Amino acid sequence: MMGTKNTMANKNIMGSEVVDGFSCKPKKIDPNKPMMHYKTLIYVCEDERCKSASKCDKAMELREIVKELGLHKGKNRIKISRSFCQGACRFRQVMQINENTKANGNTKNNAIWLKHTHKFSKQKFKKLFLSLSEDKELDEFEKIEMKVYE
Ligand code: FES
Repeated sequence: MMGTKNTMANKNIMGSEVVDGFSCKPKKIDPNKPMMHYKTLIYVCEDERCKSASKCDKAMELREIVKELGLHKGKNRIKISRSFCQGACRFRQVMQINENTKANGNTKNNAIWLKHTHKFSKQKFKKLFLSLSEDKELDEFEKIEMKVYE
């Protein structure tokens, strides 16, 4: 019984056995294994200026919230990735939202950049992630306006 429990604990949600001390790093790399589906991919800027605003490991914090909501897997999976500077430092902390339009056809919340996300509470992030999973409008979140300069 104990052996079964340990084996389960040492596998990631893709079913791959993982390196001791890691929760997702596979022991055997299979270059042909597909990447896990995501509905929404969020790039969290963790370069110098944005990181100084949040003063924490924001990506890790957000991954925990995503997990709490059960949105770390399945058809509405939200993937959180870190990025270097996105060239919008004055709006720090910046997050870029990308919908997997190829898989789900939703373009409503695609290519949205959010600003001042270091001021978001945990509740606000929960609301954001739930809104994204349900394809709701993100009216209450401060977006970075885009302008074409001629
Ligand atoms: S450091 Fe985040 S946009 Fe530049």
